[in-house]
Amino acid sequence: MNLDRRQFLAAAAAWPLVPAAGRAAGATPLLAHPARQQIAPDGHAQTPIWSYDGSAPGAEIRVAQGARVVRQLRNDLPQATSVHWHGIRIDNAMDGVPGLTQEAVPPGGQFDYDFTVPDAGTYWYHAHNRSMEQVARGLYGPLIVEEADAPEVDRDLVLMVDDWRLDPDTVELTGDFDNGHDLGHAGRLGNIVTVNGRFDPEFRVRRHERLRLRLTNAANARVFELGLDGLEGWIVALDGMPLDTPLAVTGAFPLAPAQRADLIVDVTAEAGATASLLSIERDGGYGLTRFQVGGVAAQSRRPAPQPLPPNPVPDLDEPARAPLSRMRLQGGAMRWLDSARLGDTELSGRELAELGRFWALNGYADRPAEPFLDAARGSLHRIAFVNETAFDHGMHLHGHHFRLLTEDGRPGPWRDTVLVRRGETRQIAMVADNPGNWLLHCHMLGHAASGMMSWFRVA
Ligand code: C2O
Ligand code: CU
Repeated sequence: MNLDRRQFLAAAAAWPLVPAAGRAAGATPLLAHPARQQIAPDGHAQTPIWSYDGSAPGAEIRVAQGARVVRQLRNDLPQATSVHWHGIRIDNAMDGVPGLTQEAVPPGGQFDYDFTVPDAGTYWYHAHNRSMEQVARGLYGPLIVEEADAPEVDRDLVLMVDDWRLDPDTVELTGDFDNGHDLGHAGRLGNIVTVNGRFDPEFRVRRHERLRLRLTNAANARVFELGLDGLEGWIVALDGMPLDTPLAVTGAFPLAPAQRADLIVDVTAEAGATASLLSIERDGGYGLTRFQVGGVAAQSRRPAPQPLPPNPVPDLDEPARAPLSRMRLQGGAMRWLDSARLGDTELSGRELAELGRFWALNGYADRPAEPFLDAARGSLHRIAFVNETAFDHGMHLHGHHFRLLTEDGRPGPWRDTVLVRRGETRQIAMVADNPGNWLLHCHMLGHAASGMMSWFRVA
């Protein structure tokens, strides 16, 4: 029997009520340890997970723009670990990448993270050692940086979407994190979808209430196509960075692993009805989160929101003039690698597969000894991600935000993770202004583990 979402939907007779997302900021320690959580619908057993401070997502860290974040990671897991503060333009030494910016913290060990957050917005933190296993087990949490001049909303809801692959009988996570079939295809796709670690949570709202929804895709590999029902509004930020002009949500919008979207929405469903955040799929779709409309907050909708205040990211005038580097995304099922480099040696596709390597970036099936890009501090660069594979990839750069360029080379939204669909080429432009060694990888975590890993240097 396959445990699928619809069966779970039918099985979930009593809807869990989830408390408002604004938990108090955690104490200074950030404790990574095993825990149990109700991932499957009520009535099923709890699932053993790995957590920060006892739950997945871990405790919300919420600070003011420009503030200092100090957390001592304490590792009570059976594996070495580290924490990456995804999307923060951070000091390189605090970036949390074992083998590049720090050593992995062994079981029983600790590491002091101490950094400031230059940009307001919706960010997240997650494990960065064996991430395809550790993030799948639940090691992630929200990092919210508040604007000094925040938009007026009635409620600010942090919604972290994830999918879990549970054994249908035991509801434990299946242990096949290294499964070669997943690695060489779309990655580890789960069979139950949660928001804030709960199956189909419910919030109570009122008609015409204005909500800020901070959406994060914490899944290993699934690209969600999200939609709204009974809610209407705008995307005001992507990957933490404000859009110059809020974008009305009209249909489905994609959210790739690690991407975030901030929405400002009004509850337009009638009192007594249910509004939803939807995951839209070819065969229809299903609700991820329900908003039970109890009463009326106002007689009519408010006017459209203003853009959020911009973040102090370095400006990019005339990105089309920046030198262009090409990064070819290669390999995977149906386009298997003929050969690629691993360390100093060129190996055949078959030899690579035996070593669990199925993908390559510019001919390298792991982080190469030399950086993909050696950038002078402050220089402007373009990168074209050329997807030669039969799968979608979400390419993420550490330590920087970049602008996605339109087809005709004009600057589009700021992002830290770009979805490059099969067959597509997407160009980005950035000012390499943050010194250090920075990872560049696919955020489909199984792809990263099996070849899609590179880095760049800013000096
Ligand atoms: Cu969110 Cu290198 O990762
Ligand atoms: Cu990928």
